[in-house]
Amino acid sequence: MTETVLLVGGGGREHAIARALADDCDLYACASNRNPGIASLAVGFESLDETASEDIVAYAEDVGATLAIVGPESALAAGVADALDDAGVYTFGPQAEQARIETDKAFQRQFMDDNDVPGNPDFETFDDTEAACDYIDAYGGDLAVKPAGLTGGKGVKVIGDQVDKEGAKEYLREEQYDRIVLEERLVGEEFTVQAFVANGDLVTTPAVQDHKRAYEGDEGPNTGGMGSYSDTTFELPFMTEEDYADAVSVLEAVVDALDGYKGILYGQFMLTSEGPKVIEFNARFGDPEAMNTLPVLETPFLDVLAAARDGAPIPELAFAEQATVCKYAVPEGYPTDPDAGAKIEVDEESAGDALLFYASVDERDDGLYTTTSRSFAVVGVADSISEAEEKAESALEAAGDGFHIRHDIGKSELVQQRIDHMNELRE
Ligand code: AMP
Ligand code: GLY
Repeated sequence: MTETVLLVGGGGREHAIARALADDCDLYACASNRNPGIASLAVGFESLDETASEDIVAYAEDVGATLAIVGPESALAAGVADALDDAGVYTFGPQAEQARIETDKAFQRQFMDDNDVPGNPDFETFDDTEAACDYIDAYGGDLAVKPAGLTGGKGVKVIGDQVDKEGAKEYLREEQYDRIVLEERLVGEEFTVQAFVANGDLVTTPAVQDHKRAYEGDEGPNTGGMGSYSDTTFELPFMTEEDYADAVSVLEAVVDALDGYKGILYGQFMLTSEGPKVIEFNARFGDPEAMNTLPVLETPFLDVLAAARDGAPIPELAFAEQATVCKYAVPEGYPTDPDAGAKIEVDEESAGDALLFYASVDERDDGLYTTTSRSFAVVGVADSISEAEEKAESALEAAGDGFHIRHDIGKSELVQQRIDHMNELRE
């Protein structure tokens, strides 16, 4: 039987999902922006808001979807997986209650405590801005300041890194968030491990390192992620096999404690001198990390989705032993003052043998336009990180004017800095 799969979401992550699925099924997709990469791979593409559960269910029924996969967290939070499941379309993505592991950071930390999930930093939750400010004043060290709800990765401020105590309090007083989590600042190197989860079973994928800060040298505001790399093995160059295994143990503890979780569980870790600690969990693929992981996955991704639906064990995953480097081109001014609605040129031919994934661009009758978010990414896949980086870099000739890019991602110099940093911390 040919499966009919509905993909929800129109970013780079979803273009990578579409590429991983399109050859093996009839793929339909819906998103608020018309992503030309997804539209060209899909049999049908509908412009629908990612959070419009009823419309998405109607589209799924219309096309006869036998499976669905949800890319963005906003859709999970809105209950799109619940609605599709209820309509009899098995959705690889957690229902809203389970997605709280991502969508409510206060719940996330308390859940870890209650279930003895390893790697939880010290934390406190506040629903009063002034009480949070008093805590900041009284606390002996540095804290990470987080709104409890979703902010597209842009709401966190780390004291001693992006702000001082006064700046953190000013930020909280300005934003007046309903709930705030203050937690111990973790120091080390960040990495991501993503797992496929269904029926209490979990299979993990190679570690990836994202680059959150907007500018080269890890300067500037936090973004959704400017680019990322993975190595030929499951670890990154600054990690040991034990570090990776420790991260997997954390994800296993989460799956054990979360009843009925299905979809992707994304663990973001800080590798500290004491091993991996949890920065956060996400209830979906990372963006950009999906663009590192799916291109090297040799097992058909469709087989994972079908096994999950059918209650079969998730297949053992085979990965090409290749490194990947992903670099995003984003609108000038992103993330604080993005130049949205600008007409752009992306020359697909220039990408050569690198992969090109469209993200939050909108294809209109007269061409391609930016939105407020990231525009497109290139991914080099090769035998080493430095070769993959060179491929990504030459593919960036695809970018016309008006983009900002972090060229330092995946360069030997920056990777070596990560290794040196970890060595220093571990001394
Ligand atoms: P999040 O939205 O939770 O992924 O946080 C965004 C970024 O803030 C992370 O990628 C980290 O760089 C930083 N961050 C979050 N929590 C902490 C923490 N407890 N200690 C240090 N940095 C953190
Ligand atoms: N790259 C981080 C995220 O997807 O949240």
